Amino acid sequence: MKTIELKELLMDMSVLEKIGQLVQFSGEFFESQDVTYGPQQKLGISQEIVDLAGSVLNVTGAETTRKIQMNQMAKQPHHIPMLFMSDIIYGYKTIYPNPLGLGATWNPELVAQACEMAAKEAAASGNHVTFAPMVDVIHDARWGRCLESPGEDPILNSSIAQAMVYGFQKNLSTGSGQIACLKHFAAYGGVEAGREYNTVDMSMSNLFQNYLPPYKAAIDAGCKMIMTSLSSLNGIPCTADSWLLKDILREKWGFDGVIISDYAAIRELVSHGVAIDNKEASLKALMAGVDIDMQSSCYSNELESLVTDGILDEDKITEAAWKVLKLKNELGLFENPFYGASKKLEDKNILSQENRKLARNLCEESLVLLKNDNNVLPLDITKKIALLGPYADCQDMLGMWAVHADNSKTVTLKDGIKKYLGSNLNCTKGVDLVDDIKYLQGMWDFTSEEVQDILSASKNNASEMNVALTLAKESDYVVIAVGEQSKESGEAASKTNLHLSDSQIELIDKVHKLNKKIVLIVISGRPLVLEDILEKVDALLYAWFPGTEAGDAIANILFGKVSPSGRLSISFPRNEGQLPIYYSQLPTGRPANSNSARFTSRYIDSQLDPLFPFGYGLSYSEVRYKDVQLSKATYSVDEELEIQITLVNEGVKSVKEVIQVYFNDPVASLSQPVKRLVAFKKVKVDAQKQYKLIISIPSYKLKFFNNKGDAVFEKGTFNIYVGRNVHDCIKLSCEYI
Ligand code: NOJ
Repeated sequence: MKTIELKELLMDMSVLEKIGQLVQFSGEFFESQDVTYGPQQKLGISQEIVDLAGSVLNVTGAETTRKIQMNQMAKQPHHIPMLFMSDIIYGYKTIYPNPLGLGATWNPELVAQACEMAAKEAAASGNHVTFAPMVDVIHDARWGRCLESPGEDPILNSSIAQAMVYGFQKNLSTGSGQIACLKHFAAYGGVEAGREYNTVDMSMSNLFQNYLPPYKAAIDAGCKMIMTSLSSLNGIPCTADSWLLKDILREKWGFDGVIISDYAAIRELVSHGVAIDNKEASLKALMAGVDIDMQSSCYSNELESLVTDGILDEDKITEAAWKVLKLKNELGLFENPFYGASKKLEDKNILSQENRKLARNLCEESLVLLKNDNNVLPLDITKKIALLGPYADCQDMLGMWAVHADNSKTVTLKDGIKKYLGSNLNCTKGVDLVDDIKYLQGMWDFTSEEVQDILSASKNNASEMNVALTLAKESDYVVIAVGEQSKESGEAASKTNLHLSDSQIELIDKVHKLNKKIVLIVISGRPLVLEDILEKVDALLYAWFPGTEAGDAIANILFGKVSPSGRLSISFPRNEGQLPIYYSQLPTGRPANSNSARFTSRYIDSQLDPLFPFGYGLSYSEVRYKDVQLSKATYSVDEELEIQITLVNEGVKSVKEVIQVYFNDPVASLSQPVKRLVAFKKVKVDAQKQYKLIISIPSYKLKFFNNKGDAVFEKGTFNIYVGRNVHDCIKLSCEYI
C-alpha cells in the first residue's frame, strides 16, 4: 500500500480501532491452541477489543493462521490484517542449539544461515515476527535465561545479534523471512543474584560498555522491533523508562521500529510500585514509548478513557498505531495478509534434509571439548562401548524455548552412535536426570505421565544402576550422557544449586571406580558446577541443548569425523559462591596475585579463577601461534592497529581455530577491565599446514564508555593479547600518541 493510502486508513480509524493495533493476545483468545509461557490470568477484556486486536502471540501453522487471519479481518471495520508473533528462539521445527551454543560456535555466518532457515520454516507456517534475538549479556549462571543468550561478552553477543537479525530478516521481501524482535531491552542479564525478574542496578559506564552494545548492534543491523525487559534498571522498570526507550533507543540510536512490552509487563508496573493502577501503568508505558501491550488488559481497557478524560492526547495513540501499520505494510500484509503461510511449503521445507544438515553443522560447531586426557577422543570404532546416563537414549534435548518443536523428531545419542558402532554399542539409562520429585514438581506443571517418564529409572533404581554397571564392566569405554532436564533452564528457572543431580553423580562415581575410560557428555542450558567430577572422567564434551540433530552431531565429534571447534562464550564457575563470574573484571587495589596472601581480593575457601575460562575449548590438534606481532609500536589516534599472526597445525587432523584478540587500557581516567575482547576470527587450519593472516582493529574499538555514557579514547599504552582463550594469550603492547 502506498504511504498516502496507509495514512488515509489511519485517519479513518476510530480510537478503539487504533488501540486494537496496540494490543496482543495469546492464541486462546482466537480459539487456537496456546503454547505461550507466562502467568495465566483472566484478562477481563471485551470481545470487541479481541476482535480489533492487531497481533497474536505464539499461534502458528499455515492453515490455522490463515483461518484466524480471515476471521479477524472480517470482523474489523477496516479489515486490517494481524501480525502473528512467536518465540522462534533457536529454530521453529528444526531446532539448532540454544543461543549459548550459538555463541560457542564463534561463527556468525553459520548462525545467520540457521536463522534464515528458521525464518523460512516459520514463515511457511504463517508467522511474521520472531521474539529473537535475545542478546542480554550474562554473568551469572544461576539465571535460567543464560540459555537464551549468546554469552557474557558484549562483542561476541553483538556479532551473534547482527548475524541473527540478518538471517531472520534476509528474505522478508519474498514472504520467507521473519521480522526480528530484539530483547530484552535493557540489561535484563544483570538481574541481581541471578534471580528471575529481579532488579538490575549498575553504573552508566558498565551499562554502556558491557550491556547496551549488543542491542545497538542489532539495531544497526536493521532490526525492526524491540521488546522491553520485565526488570527495572536503576530503579525504573524498563517498560516505563522513557530515558531508555526515547532518549537512547529512539534519539541516540535512531530506532524507528515498533516497541513491544514483554508479557504482562505493563500491568506489572503496578507490582513494581511505580503505578497506582492499570490506568497509570498504561499512561506511563505509552508515554515512555511502548507501542504494543503484550498480554495484559492495560491498553485495551484504559487507553480510551485516558483520552476521553483529557489525560492522554489521542495523537500518542495514533503515533503508536502508525508504527504498527507501517510494519504490516512493510511485510506487504495489506496485499497478501497470509504472507508466506502455505501448507505446501510447510510440507516441503519443515525439517527438510537440508535444514537438518544445517542444524547438524551448527550443533557440531557449538560443542565444546573441555577435557581430553591422553586423547581418549576420538573414540576407536573397533572398541566395545557402553552408553549410559539419562541422555543416552532421550529425545527431549531441545531445551525450554523450542515451544513449537516436536521432540519425536530428535536424533538421540543412541541413534547417532549406533551408526558408527552397530552392535558394539550397549546402552541403558541407569539413573534419571532428576531424582527429587518435589524439586521436579516445583519446577514445572508436569503431567503425571511426564513425571513417570522423567523418573522412570528411579522407580527401580538399584536394578537400573546394576544393569548400567554391568554394561560398563563389559566395555572398553564408557560414554555417560548427563545434564539438566530441559525445564531446568530457560525462563523462570533460576537456581542456587548448579551441580548435577545426586544420582547422576553417583553413576559417574561408580563407573569411575571400575577403572574404565569415561567420556562425559553434559547437556544443559547453563554452565554447571563440575569441579568435583572433572577428575573422575577422561574426556568432557559440553552440549548446549543440542537440538534436533543432537545424536548425529555428537557422534560425529566423538568418532572424529569432525574436530571440535566450539569455544566457551561464558566462564564456568568452580562453585556457586563465585557467581557472578566473568572475565572482563575491573582490577582491584589488592589483586589476588600480589605478595600478601591474606589482605588481597580473593576467597579463603575457593580459587578465584573459573574452572574453564571464557573462550576455552579443545580441538583434536592443537594449533600453535607463531610470529604474532603488531605492525608498529606507535600509532596515531585514528590509525588502525594491525596484528600479524601465523597459525601452525602440526597435528594430523584439520581443525578450526578461534583466534581471540583482547586488549587492556592499563591507565585511564576510569578503571578499565583487565581484558576486553576486541576481535575474533574462526579459521580452518589444515593438518600439517600454516595459515597466515592479519587482523585489523580500528582505534575507535579501543574506546571506553564514561559514566555519562560517552565513548572516549584516551591516548597512551594499550596491551594487546592474542590467543586461544582469555587465559592463554600472547601479550603485545603499543602506544597511541
Ligand atoms: C516472556 C518472555 O520474557 C519473552 O522472552 C517471550 O518472548 C515472551 N514471554 C513471549 O512468549
